Amino acid sequence: MEIYHISAECYPVAKVGGLADVVGALPKYQNDLGHKARVVVPKYGTKFNQENNFEIIHSGSLKLGMFDFNYEIQKEKTNVLGFELFVVSIPALFDRPNVYSYDDDTERFLAFQIAFLKWLSETNQQPDILHSHDHHTGLIPFMVQFCYDFASLKETPTVLTIHNGQYQGWFDFDKIDYIPEFNKLKTGFLDWNNIINPLATAIKCAWKVTTVSPSYLDEISFEMNGLEDLLRLERPKSIGILNGIDTEIWNPKTDPMLESNYDLKDFKVGKRKNKQALCDQFNLDVSKPLFTFIGRLVDEKGADLLPEICNLALLAHPKEINIFILGSGNPDLEMKLQEIKSFHQGNYNVYIGYNEKLAHQVYAGADFLLMPSRVEPCGLNQMYSLRYGTIPIVRRTGGLKDTVIDIGDNGFGICHEQTSVSDVIYSINRAVELYQNQEKTEAIIRTTMQIDHSWNKAAQEYINVYQSLKTEK
Ligand code: GLC
Repeated sequence: MEIYHISAECYPVAKVGGLADVVGALPKYQNDLGHKARVVVPKYGTKFNQENNFEIIHSGSLKLGMFDFNYEIQKEKTNVLGFELFVVSIPALFDRPNVYSYDDDTERFLAFQIAFLKWLSETNQQPDILHSHDHHTGLIPFMVQFCYDFASLKETPTVLTIHNGQYQGWFDFDKIDYIPEFNKLKTGFLDWNNIINPLATAIKCAWKVTTVSPSYLDEISFEMNGLEDLLRLERPKSIGILNGIDTEIWNPKTDPMLESNYDLKDFKVGKRKNKQALCDQFNLDVSKPLFTFIGRLVDEKGADLLPEICNLALLAHPKEINIFILGSGNPDLEMKLQEIKSFHQGNYNVYIGYNEKLAHQVYAGADFLLMPSRVEPCGLNQMYSLRYGTIPIVRRTGGLKDTVIDIGDNGFGICHEQTSVSDVIYSINRAVELYQNQEKTEAIIRTTMQIDHSWNKAAQEYINVYQSLKTEK
């Protein structure tokens, strides 16, 4: 089957979060299954785009209300990624260092989607599936069905995957003319509470909706930033498919970013070497269990609780544990996490920023990973950590609930019910107790490293979804 994945992010082309990891891996595995999966992203001013060669395969112009833009569709020449990569180049909108958070994000992602569909229809392509990811590409299922310019794609099955339902891409009706001419009787599909809501539109118009874990699908029928009723209504066409991880990139045996490679046979020595390097670099005590948090410093991830958790945990266990935090996000929180350094010299450190290499080293060197997320549609970090033999401590929500079983239930992780300081501290206490029993800890690590979280299963599940739509058609 010919599949287009249309997304705002794709690792290693442009990454902000887990969305990029999924879009950078899933197509590769679908190709291994004998399909032709391609990826289309905007051409940002990222390192990857600067360092790789692209050829122009199509060009044209589009209108957003009174604004005109020229666009080019470019193809990455060497096929280094395991799938064909196409970028939509509109320098005025995308040749910037960051992926999101500009005042004209509405215009940027609309222009991206329109340029992509113009290319398909002007070159008479008839792909089997258009697969949108999150709200940035959420108007595609609407536009192919109702915009006159894209009539040739009207029958193409569309799939929406919700990676994060908190963000919905809302914009006012005064921008409705940005959307190429469409059947005005269908305006209701754009509307959610008198505002244009691309995620809601995608949920209504896509032939199939998927979420990145089964539990997340259950949860958002009750709570999803205003769209829960819609989700309940569209539940019959929705399915939760648990993400996988790219086990070629995330393999402690071959990972070139690590200080020392290791596998099941020599993880004790290997993890120790990585831990030593990390502790040397960040002035931590290698003889103590190392707890870490990796990710965006935002409330959704429970990161707002970290300063208090660190203070309490480090006071309750003076010199018994280390904590290392890697991430960026809320500036006040970044500052607080820096400030508390002076109280816990030698047992605590923080790295503010996004650093892929350091993240790999921390998964390898840490003993426990904290994920107190309030919302976690899937979560990939717990799977990376399991593969690297680092025991996850998670709140039972979304994909965390689907991937981590508590040691009390013969599992391999530590789970708590609430995103609260007391629940996390209690879990840290359980972890310290576990760590004192090295034999048990090692047995658990052995279990974690053998769990299969590769994409093989999920890639096939998506193909099954596509195939069911083709027969519907
Ligand atoms: C988003 C979600 C995360 C998920 C990722 C990939 O970043 O917050 O839970 O793992 O998308 O689907």
